[in-house]
Amino acid sequence: MSEDKFYITTPIYYVNDVPHIGHAYTTIAADILARYNRLQGRAVFFLTGTDEHGQKVEKAAAEKGRTPKEHADMLVDNFKTLWQKLNISNDAFIRTTDPEHIKTVQGIIQLLWDNDEIEKRQYSGWYCTPDERFWTEKEIVKGNCPDCGRPVEEIEEENYFFLMSKYQDRLIQHIEDNEDFILPHTRRNEVLGFLKHNELGDLCISRPRARLAWGVPLPFDQEFVTYVWFDALLNYFSATRYLVPHPEQAKEGDFWWPADHHLIGKDILTTHAVYWITMLMALKFPLPDNIFAHGWWTVDGKKMSKSLGNVVDPAKLAEKFGIDAFRYFLFREVTFGLDGDFSEQALIRRINTELANDLGNLLSRFLTMVGKYLNEQILIPDDNTTAADSFAEECINALIPVVDDAKSQDWSHLRFNIILDNIWSVIRAANNYIAQTEPWKLVKDDPSMVKTVMFNVWNALRLTAVSIYPFMPDTSEKMWKQLGLKSLLNEAEESHSIYEWNWSPGYEIRVSKGDPLFPRIDTKKKNIKENKTKEQPLNKDNKADAGDNLISINEFAKVQLKVGKVIDVERVEGSSKLIKLQVDTGEKRQIVAGIGKTYAPEDLNGKSIVVVTNLKPAKLMGVESQGMLLAATDSEGVLSILTPEKDIKQGALIR
Ligand code: MSP
Repeated sequence: MSEDKFYITTPIYYVNDVPHIGHAYTTIAADILARYNRLQGRAVFFLTGTDEHGQKVEKAAAEKGRTPKEHADMLVDNFKTLWQKLNISNDAFIRTTDPEHIKTVQGIIQLLWDNDEIEKRQYSGWYCTPDERFWTEKEIVKGNCPDCGRPVEEIEEENYFFLMSKYQDRLIQHIEDNEDFILPHTRRNEVLGFLKHNELGDLCISRPRARLAWGVPLPFDQEFVTYVWFDALLNYFSATRYLVPHPEQAKEGDFWWPADHHLIGKDILTTHAVYWITMLMALKFPLPDNIFAHGWWTVDGKKMSKSLGNVVDPAKLAEKFGIDAFRYFLFREVTFGLDGDFSEQALIRRINTELANDLGNLLSRFLTMVGKYLNEQILIPDDNTTAADSFAEECINALIPVVDDAKSQDWSHLRFNIILDNIWSVIRAANNYIAQTEPWKLVKDDPSMVKTVMFNVWNALRLTAVSIYPFMPDTSEKMWKQLGLKSLLNEAEESHSIYEWNWSPGYEIRVSKGDPLFPRIDTKKKNIKENKTKEQPLNKDNKADAGDNLISINEFAKVQLKVGKVIDVERVEGSSKLIKLQVDTGEKRQIVAGIGKTYAPEDLNGKSIVVVTNLKPAKLMGVESQGMLLAATDSEGVLSILTPEKDIKQGALIR
């Protein structure tokens, strides 16, 4: 990351998609990083936008009797409005139908053509119309697209190809030389694995106008339009030519370029790590610092889909539970990079415990006490009084990795949940500090100490308010005001050292109690779905845990459990639930498990798991399973497979 500028992008979303939690996820992540970097005093350019060309828009527009552009103009507001609702602080919004973007795309294609990076060829391949891409004979599955499963058709036509294959070795080298170029590292290893074991082809970057008219015309051949991904990926560059905060930065070409992070979902890693990077190599442009591929959200344990009717509308959730609670949940619940499961129950749990209880109560108790014991005044003490106990130091130490990226990699590795955990350790410490110092007793026994204790809590809350700002900007401002401070952002602009001390001893600050930050959510009142799989009270028919059902150690010993290493995984054809795993448990065996709605095959490869190895083989959907893997399911249906706590050889016995 350069010291003084920070350029962050989200994917540009298909304009005719209905925005859902997946879109919100990447955009909020980018917002968190943008806000954090602004607080650090860096110049920030945060770009998002919409992908508007291609067959899907053309078709949907035709069905509605509109031109594609009219159609896109009507839909783009779905995204713009949502970003406003979710408090997204993007600096620009790019649309691939912007004339300036189109001009840049054409300029770049012309440049590549002039430099012999593009070639015209006769081509035949299997085309998936909904996905707008070609597959080779080897890739298709029984006449269907390997990606979406819909039928493909054989097409023979002339097309233009970007000569991507010649960059294969350089790409491997670049990824190997730059450990954090693709994050998380598991994704980096996947890309490297793919590149080392497959020959990269050239990329078909045109579509005959006769088949698809809605695209950027090739500047040197009007019979063709540009492949939608080639056009879309260039948005990251073209925006730096016309959408940047100051026009002179657009002229100074390389002020913003390259990006510090391209944030994307794991499904579009190949287009970014392979297509985009080789395009930049051919253009001889500097490469971005990092591509970060996050995981996918399921909903109540199931894949989100229109047909299941479980698509999560972020705007509705934010209305129901509050924007900040929703933003917090997404980044606290799941490690950024891994898949996660969304449920209202899980969101409510986080709101009631961490937001209402830990944070909200701390602020409210504190303000009540300052009102009662100190007439709403906090006195900035001289250094001697702050040193009266070690709490202040403890807070500062916990927050160093949260506020200082020179001292920690948590921000550069986008470890949002660790950052939040560090902040919460301060909040919990402050609650303990109040419990231990008992200000309600001190007020009689040692009144001057109350001032010190209250100042220390005030300072912990102030640091908390700054630290949570990237995640929960509204809450942060509310806290800031209740703590008697002006405006956090003004403060940041004025001082650039918002985390640091800048009041003189003896200065008095007047706090003022406001509304609770996060009212507790009463599931009954709010008409919130009750948990369907509530634990049942024990009764005659349901006594699995009861004493009369105990087994002896000898009975338990009959079950042979071993550690197994997953060496190969694929889905069982025709089933969304079943996954077929080849597992090494000292000997190789095949296991079929019903975990496909929570885990994708790529999440499982290389994992150590726990296997019952002496189970009679059984067939599931005609596929033999020679054992069973162990997984836990909680009362909300969240499923998690069991893995050993540390590295241990496959075949190890579990007792
Ligand atoms: N238009 C392309 C991106 C072009 S970028 C030059 C595109 N658009 S999209 O609208 O289909 O998807 C955008 C993003 O949403 C992807 O990063 C994808 O990973 C993400 N998600 C879609 N469903 C998701 C979940 N269920 N969970 C998390 N993110 C998901 O692809």
